[in-house]
Amino acid sequence: MSEKPSRNLALELVRVTEAAALAAGRFMGRGDKEGSDQAAVDAMRLVLNTVEMNGIIIIGEGEKDEAPMLYNGEVLGTGAEPDVDIAVDPIDGTRLLALGKANSLATVAIADRGSMLDPGPMVYMEKIAVGPEAKGVIDIEATPLVNLRSVARAKGKELADLTVVVLDRPRHEKLIADIRRAGARIRLITDGDVAGALMTAWPDSGVDVLMGIGGSPEGVISACALKAMGGEIQGRLWARNDTEIQKARELGFDHTRILTINDLVRSDNVFFAATGITDGELLDGVKYYGNGARTHSLVMRSKSGTVREIVARHRWDKLMQFSQVKYD
Ligand code: FBP
Repeated sequence: MSEKPSRNLALELVRVTEAAALAAGRFMGRGDKEGSDQAAVDAMRLVLNTVEMNGIIIIGEGEKDEAPMLYNGEVLGTGAEPDVDIAVDPIDGTRLLALGKANSLATVAIADRGSMLDPGPMVYMEKIAVGPEAKGVIDIEATPLVNLRSVARAKGKELADLTVVVLDRPRHEKLIADIRRAGARIRLITDGDVAGALMTAWPDSGVDVLMGIGGSPEGVISACALKAMGGEIQGRLWARNDTEIQKARELGFDHTRILTINDLVRSDNVFFAATGITDGELLDGVKYYGNGARTHSLVMRSKSGTVREIVARHRWDKLMQFSQVKYD
């Protein structure tokens, strides 16, 4: 049955990620993670509050490193319908930004109320993510070799043609050895596994799979984006120690459960926006002109599957007449 075109909230969300990127971009290479996070969070909060919605933050990144954050349970938006869950990562890759390295992004996702997974006290998640061509062939319980064979077959490639993105962490020593033994190529990243997950579904990124343990909030945000891009992600909460397992049990979280993309975000009505802060394969970073700046963003909606790239030119002389965010 056909429907009239309906509101695409992602087109409003892009103003949120643009504001965060414009504010955070000033901190590139300045070694001030905390300052950049605060600037991005403040800008994001201000603009999210102007969006017509009744939103609750389910994923408010920050607990892992006690960074400034949008709090879980914080109510945002004008209060009008629709009722939605919000996931934010004002800067994915604060370290990348602090060092002026590639691929830091400002991201936000919105979905129907009650549809996003709340990972509770579990800050880390094991993940495997792929783009549309390999959707349906991955299994987080299988070995890297089995998964890589399946992905290679689905994409009509040899194992040696595959590129796997993995966070460069000591906890991935065995995973890295297994991937090497399987014969695939590895792209080790120092941070930013949301960008890594998005790259698996981005034509011409050259990335086929993301594997390994990263942040749980980033897992939910990546699931929102991959739903819109037609890819797939599977996850499993990962405990660092027995205390975390104990705490998770007490709060009723099953850290052994396999989380499908639908467990991570159940709704089929998901909106996602990301703006580049530093230059990367996916998005250009913020460029400041003196009297303004240029941003490059991705905007998507799962219902239609449309992925838009938006380049915006922002003018301080106009913006600063009314904006509460200090951009200039
Ligand atoms: P933030 O910049 O938002 O803190 O996250 C960076 C990041 O690299 C994520 O992309 C990733 O999921 C997580 O940190 C990995 O955590 P850790 O650095 O503790 O291994």
